[in-house]
Amino acid sequence: MNYYKISFSLSRIFLLSAFTFTINLSFAQKTAISLKSAYQDDFLIGTALGTEHILEKNEKANALIKREFNAITPENIMKAQVIHPAPNRYNFTLADKYVEYGQKNQMYVVGHTLVWHSQLPPFVFKISNPDSLRIFMTEHINTVAGRYAGKINSWDVVNEALNEDGSLRKSVFLNKLGEGYIKEAFLLAAKADPKAALYYNDYNIEQPAKRKGAIELIKKLQASGVKIDGVGIQGHWSINTLNLKDIEDSILEFSALGIKIAFTELDLTVLPNPWDLQGADVNQRFEEKPEMNPYKDALPDSVQTVLANRYTDLFKLFLKHKDKISRITFWGVDDNHSWLNGFPIRNRTNYPLLFDRLLEPKKAYQAVLNLKIAK
Ligand code: XIL
Repeated sequence: MNYYKISFSLSRIFLLSAFTFTINLSFAQKTAISLKSAYQDDFLIGTALGTEHILEKNEKANALIKREFNAITPENIMKAQVIHPAPNRYNFTLADKYVEYGQKNQMYVVGHTLVWHSQLPPFVFKISNPDSLRIFMTEHINTVAGRYAGKINSWDVVNEALNEDGSLRKSVFLNKLGEGYIKEAFLLAAKADPKAALYYNDYNIEQPAKRKGAIELIKKLQASGVKIDGVGIQGHWSINTLNLKDIEDSILEFSALGIKIAFTELDLTVLPNPWDLQGADVNQRFEEKPEMNPYKDALPDSVQTVLANRYTDLFKLFLKHKDKISRITFWGVDDNHSWLNGFPIRNRTNYPLLFDRLLEPKKAYQAVLNLKIAK
């Protein structure tokens, strides 16, 4: 073989292997790289599922959920209004399917939520004496947490018990049962499902006054010997007012209590808020006005970039404190599914998540992923 022939075959081998390498890389990117795989050594990456997802109605959404997420939360179907619509009547059809979905896909299954003042069935508001309300709460927790015992990885035991100033919300539970209802709820949940991690969940508890209230509440529970494993910071934030310092302070202060922190309902609104709302009180609604819905047809590139940058900032912070964080769950699968199209003003077009209306990854998705694959 002369020199010319040898060098020709050598360069052919080189070209071929370079080609194979390129193919392998893009194959890996398409198959292996996803949020859950990129963050597998850091924390769980979750999403909230609507009924359509639990019933696997849309093939593309179903594939996306399985590819990207390893934790799920039921957006509505485990709330008392749906699962316990009338005294002594439970509707477990969707909740059973939800739990099965998580199990068959080896996902971390969250229960949301056992005790909450919102989305209660109407009969609860008609209960006039404390004993009957206590019976409702007890039976509700025993039945729901008991049915899924060993299958739910963590329960949001009590949701949104605090006011913005850190005092206890005057909910139907506080009014009739007194502040001890929170402890009772945790004790009941621990008994009904001893294996589940038990969380207190709320919005705005990263803000100083409400955080202080949450810390007091958790300390009291701990002092009385109640099992509490973590705190859920909902994370309904805005690209305009995101406060990283508050979030970091909260991670440090909550973790100093010896509990885990989960970001349980993450979304970043890109729309103007009526009062520059930073909360998530589901009972608040405001007037529809065109200026409050500026991106009806599409999200400008500049805002898309701001969204990506805010998510980058957030995930950098999450990574910095990954030893204290158990899970980051997005409140919805894609922009079309997001509750923020209807809250706090109905009929708007919002873009708060990582996947767009066609279920395609957005710039923000790539930004969150790049934090892990760029290294
Ligand atoms: C929201 C759901 O996303 C909506 O579909 C529903 O209409 C109202 O509730 N805090 C919570 C969640 O703990 O359960 C709420 O979910 C959002 C605020």
